[in-house]
Amino acid sequence: MKYRDLGKTGIKVSEIGYGAWGIGGGMWQDSKDDDSLRALHRTIDLGLNFIDTALVYGDGHSENLVGTVIREQKGRLSVSSKIPPKNMRWPAQKGSALRDAFPFDHIVTCTEKSLKNLGLDTIDVQQFHVWDDGWAADHEWQDAVAQLKDEGKIRFFGLSLNNHEPENALRAAATGLVDTIQVIYNIYDQSPEKNLYPYCLKNKIGIIVRVPLDEGGLAGNITAKTIFPKGDFRNGYFRGDRKQQVAGHTDALKKLLGSEAGTLAELALRFCLHHPAVSTVIPGMRSIANVEANCKLSDGRTLSESLIAELRHHVWVRDFYED
Ligand SMILES: NC(=O)c1ccc[n+]([C@@H]2O[C@H](COP(=O)([O-])OP(=O)(O)OC[C@H]3O[C@@H](n4cnc5c(N)ncnc54)[C@H](OP(=O)(O)O)[C@@H]3O)[C@@H](O)[C@H]2O)c1
Repeated sequence: MKYRDLGKTGIKVSEIGYGAWGIGGGMWQDSKDDDSLRALHRTIDLGLNFIDTALVYGDGHSENLVGTVIREQKGRLSVSSKIPPKNMRWPAQKGSALRDAFPFDHIVTCTEKSLKNLGLDTIDVQQFHVWDDGWAADHEWQDAVAQLKDEGKIRFFGLSLNNHEPENALRAAATGLVDTIQVIYNIYDQSPEKNLYPYCLKNKIGIIVRVPLDEGGLAGNITAKTIFPKGDFRNGYFRGDRKQQVAGHTDALKKLLGSEAGTLAELALRFCLHHPAVSTVIPGMRSIANVEANCKLSDGRTLSESLIAELRHHVWVRDFYED
């Protein structure tokens, strides 16, 4: 496993981090705690040292599982969590008031709940789970974050951006109070490269890449016949004829497999790692097989410029969370 700087935090994070949404259950109906814990332990054996979770993942269950593993490792791992918006509106609504989503007391109370769920005294990176840049100059969030840092309840602060809106954070970043940004970046959505990544490289803001496999739509195993468990959010994400659409896109991408990447998941993750602004890529991975396949990709090898150029033709603009 290779490690990169998480911006200017001083934390060296593994290139492959762990996305802990799925293990919370709830919206991912096919999670089993024993499998999740086995997968988490295997990632750590393989050198992974960064786990991303959130207060709302399984209503604290993801944080419970992650906390168990972090405590066992006694300071060798870093964790990021997220504060949900008080109004529970995803994405953040343009023109809404910061107070509706992140009033001071809510920021503090949610952080204290996450600390309890994790069983820790401090969270390495605490993030807002949505963001609208119209809130950037509001002192309420700035004061709450400063207080949490002063009290040692959080070490660093970040934003997890609205889906497919990588530039909806540049004003917040300019305050100097944002240590990390979590953003969707994958073969289909390459838009962070345009303005967000150059800004973050220049200003040493850490980038946490989420949804590198498009919720499975870049893993290569979704076909028209794929069935998700009842109540699972992927029934909505891949609704209607979307599974056929996905299969069309992955069939085209499979033509690029070869000596540089043998599977679509490998191609997708290596694509994310090729960009120097990226600190860590956090796929969800609940099986030992997926953990082993993904962790071994952090080997210092980068995709060739010609393959990256080919991948530029596979951008697919849409919002399956909303449309
Ligand atoms: N708004 C936000 O802040 C937000 C939103 C979404 C996600 N996130 C964060 O980003 C993380 C990653 O996103 P995600 O988990 O939603 O989606 P993702 O990483 O794009 O995709 C996860 C899916 O890919 C599968 N997979 C993983 N490795 C694979 C491999 N080598 N081959 C084939 N399939 C593979 C997983 O299977 P298994 O799980 O069954 O192994 C799972 O079904 C989340 O866990 C969460 O921490 C944040």
